[in-house]
Amino acid sequence: MSKTEKTTIVTGAASGIGRAIALRLAGEGGRVLAMDTDAAGLADLATAQAEAEAGRIATLAGDVAREEDVASCVAEAMQRFGRIDAVVCNAGIMKRVPAAELSYEDWHRVLDVNLSQSFLFAKHAGSELRKARGAMLLVSSTRAFMSEADTESYSATKGGLFALAHSLAVSLSPEVRVNAVAPGWINVSGEALRPVDHQQHLVGRVGEPDDVAHAASFLLDGEKAGFITGQTLVIDGGMTRQMIYAH
Ligand SMILES: NC(=O)c1ccc[n+]([C@@H]2O[C@H](COP(=O)([O-])OP(=O)(O)OC[C@H]3O[C@@H](n4cnc5c(N)ncnc54)[C@H](O)[C@@H]3O)[C@@H](O)[C@H]2O)c1
Repeated sequence: MSKTEKTTIVTGAASGIGRAIALRLAGEGGRVLAMDTDAAGLADLATAQAEAEAGRIATLAGDVAREEDVASCVAEAMQRFGRIDAVVCNAGIMKRVPAAELSYEDWHRVLDVNLSQSFLFAKHAGSELRKARGAMLLVSSTRAFMSEADTESYSATKGGLFALAHSLAVSLSPEVRVNAVAPGWINVSGEALRPVDHQQHLVGRVGEPDDVAHAASFLLDGEKAGFITGQTLVIDGGMTRQMIYAH
């Protein structure tokens, strides 16, 4: 099947990395169902499509932490496009709060959004992905492997996605490949950065959303990445490869 006929669900597609992935896949000729809680951001995404790509991105407002919304998203993709070749579980939230002050409810919210969505999409889209011999891509983080203070809930989910990628890869094999990406610092807001922000990366710059979108496109492509499954690809400009000693 050519890339042009492939359908991908992308969550958290109203902004940042998810938006870049949705636009890249559509730009390559694929069809995308973009899901997000941010309806205004989704409307903006739909209008951002190049004229030649009009109609390739459909949108659906929904919460990835609600099982009924995930089931509706899968049903919507089937109704609109008739098949699901890939799911990108990208939606994510972070609560930077000391453990002593983080409510148990907020702890669970981060787990539900960041981690459980991938279980829910595997549960509801797994059979269609098998039929399509498709792929899942989970968006983890270098915070799966290293941390700042007061980010326990976020780091736990991103570490969980590292494990879920290989666990789902085994369970959904041989038909479905499941991989994760672990981005480092990606400037999704376009904020002004200092020279030192760039210099702490081996490649000399902070990442851009398209750095992740290029990798997503590759990992979802069964012809190019057909021998890669259960892996987590770090996309961090080398930041986590540099030892830090105080001089
Ligand atoms: N930006 C970075 O430096 C960085 C680094 C590593 C990993 N990540 C991960 O990349 C992913 C995308 O993050 P981003 O930086 O583009 O952030 P972002 O805030 O720009 O985008 C996240 C999107 O997810 C949506 N979202 C949040 N909760 C949702 C829910 N319950 N249901 C549906 N949609 C929901 C938001 O509305 C938003 O559009 C996240 O999983 C994040 O953890 C980002």
